[in-house]
Amino acid sequence: MTTTEPAPSNSVPNKWDDYDNVDRIMDVANADAADPDGLIHAVKDNADAIFTWNYEKGERAKLNKLYEKAKNAQWNGETDLDWSIEVDPEQVITVDDPSIEAWFRENPESPLYKMSDTEWTRVRTEGVNWRLSQFMHGEQGALLCTAKIVETVPWIDAKYYAATQVVDEARHVEVFAKYLDTKLDGEYPINPHLKLLLDDIINDSRWDITYLGMQIMVEGLALAAFGFMHALTEEPLLKKLLRYVMSDEARHVAFGVLSLQEVYEGLNQAEIRERQEFAFDSALRMRDRFLQQEVWERMDIDVRKMVELQLAQPNEQKEFQRLLFSKIVPNCKKLGLLDAGDGWLRDRFTDIGVIQFEDMVDTTEEFLEFDAVTHDREAAKAS
Ligand SMILES: [Fe+2]
Ligand SMILES: [Fe+2]
Repeated sequence: MTTTEPAPSNSVPNKWDDYDNVDRIMDVANADAADPDGLIHAVKDNADAIFTWNYEKGERAKLNKLYEKAKNAQWNGETDLDWSIEVDPEQVITVDDPSIEAWFRENPESPLYKMSDTEWTRVRTEGVNWRLSQFMHGEQGALLCTAKIVETVPWIDAKYYAATQVVDEARHVEVFAKYLDTKLDGEYPINPHLKLLLDDIINDSRWDITYLGMQIMVEGLALAAFGFMHALTEEPLLKKLLRYVMSDEARHVAFGVLSLQEVYEGLNQAEIRERQEFAFDSALRMRDRFLQQEVWERMDIDVRKMVELQLAQPNEQKEFQRLLFSKIVPNCKKLGLLDAGDGWLRDRFTDIGVIQFEDMVDTTEEFLEFDAVTHDREAAKAS
């Protein structure tokens, strides 16, 4: 592997023995608020740009197959989506999980207790703006990470593939930004937990960590989250937008798994343990980002109380949060990270209640099923 020593992390460390510590979660947001960015946020990427003189295309056959697939599956956000569709922001999602809504509205301790239907519609509408805003910011993270992978990965097949992903991610940022700007009102800044996670991934000098953090963890979760929103919304523009983005994302996660399998076979136990810890640290950050503190703040609702209550929800209501890990856990298993060493990552995923996804389908071949773009083209040709 071509690598240099890991750079020191600029993040607040997670305490792995205290996942639900509200102070830890609030501190991240408070630290970020105390040090606001302008329009530009700079992060050191600490990496060597690597040339390879081995131009043997197809040496890694599965990556080559993905690359060929990606070239044919490009779409254009301006022309393949119908931007003339009018969108009512209050109708983008009309029903979230009714049991969760009921729990917050019927619990006397909840700041949302006895909230009227009109106020609840605002919670839901702000929630949509917030989620799509975080998708957009995450997509920019993917854009930067993939550009870094083009530079740092030493294999030509991976450089070729990653270059197609740079274009994919640019298109994803573009379509989410356009949807937020022209169809909704009230874009949100990046969530501090997501921002720290993206900073850590970019900041790390080890090229496989860019893959692990972005391709496996962030994109694995995004694929699941896009899938939920796709199932929840009947708004036709957003539905198609998400379906097309997911076609690309499934390929991206496959790229991560296929590349890292080879790398992780060659690492020693201590190096694998570092990757296990990085994966779990990322998983916690992503869970914390879904507490949508910024929405409560914007609505003048007690943020701390809402964080406490969200963490204290009954187990069956945490199913949604947990399902977000339904791609990450099987992919970590496929990479050998779950059981390596003393099974450290298996124990941590058990603690946060997501280990049950370990045998769900991993994402190495799933991109073929997700390919809505080719499907639509073939249907158009046939008609
Ligand atoms: Fe993306
Ligand atoms: Fe992606």
